[in-house]
Amino acid sequence: MPSIYVTRKIPDAGVKMLQEKGYEVDVSEKDGVLTRDELIEALKQKEYDAVLCLLTDKIDGEVFDAAPKAKVFANYAVGFDNVNLLDAKERGVVVSNTPGVLTNTVAEHTFTLMLAIAHRVAEADRFTRAGKYIGWAPELLLGNDVSGKVLGVLGAGRIGSRVAHHALNGFDMKVLYYDIKRNEDFEKETGAEFRESLEDVLREADFVTTHVPLLDSTRHLINKEKLSLMKSTAYLVNTSRGPVIDEKALVEALKNKTIKGAAIDVFEEEPKLAPGLAELPNIIITPHIASGTEETRSAMAELAAENIIAVLEGKNAPNAIS
Ligand code: GLV
Ligand code: GLV
Repeated sequence: MPSIYVTRKIPDAGVKMLQEKGYEVDVSEKDGVLTRDELIEALKQKEYDAVLCLLTDKIDGEVFDAAPKAKVFANYAVGFDNVNLLDAKERGVVVSNTPGVLTNTVAEHTFTLMLAIAHRVAEADRFTRAGKYIGWAPELLLGNDVSGKVLGVLGAGRIGSRVAHHALNGFDMKVLYYDIKRNEDFEKETGAEFRESLEDVLREADFVTTHVPLLDSTRHLINKEKLSLMKSTAYLVNTSRGPVIDEKALVEALKNKTIKGAAIDVFEEEPKLAPGLAELPNIIITPHIASGTEETRSAMAELAAENIIAVLEGKNAPNAIS
């Protein structure tokens, strides 16, 4: 009977699917991320046939070698910057991710952040709870409209596309986008306009949102110099990966009012925040929960399980990335 190791408790749906196939499923009992040593130790307990891992697990050659029989590592995330794909390839291990099922949810969270920072929702909530609301006032906590503004989408993938869709259909925004490659399908689906350079998008946009994977080429895509090109009235949103933005430069830009505000779900060194970030009033910070709805986290669990089942049944993993 094949055995599967799951590196942390996930919604039941995925584990159930694996158990219904008759697989033996061991779920880490630790209430937290396994350290590297704990992960390696856990994988050596049995001859596991597959592993369901998380974006918080760093998966490389040494980890693959701790589970030499495992044919597949199913990453419970759409992003896979935590996995060394070269090491996987060398060993013939299939790696899969969970695209598609979280697109809507991440796009919703992106809009949640965009609306919340523009309407100063978190700041207003803190203000009210602190007993500072003494009565309606014409200029109390004035924010900015999202409707009719220019949105710059960085990365024309599934999530970027869904965000562009909401922007156009829900908020009459003008949408610009930048990607390393022009994507005409994206333009047709969303009506977004391509810009040849990232700089042009940054100069024109009232809101900028990042939907790129984390690669060497996207690390610090938004740095001090790029922030300085943005309008001083603009807002920056990040639901992709923390290191896409130079977080220290962001703190400075928010302090100096180089840009008006930011809303981020991901950080450079999770779970740590860059010094000074948490003290700033003009940023909203959520703890990497953009895909975190009951519906989507269950769907991700099922999709990860589907990929494992496919490989163990000798089929191609539907979401193989290596
Ligand atoms: C979450 O960050 C994911 O990549 O799924
Ligand atoms: C990820 O799902 C993306 O393509 O944006």
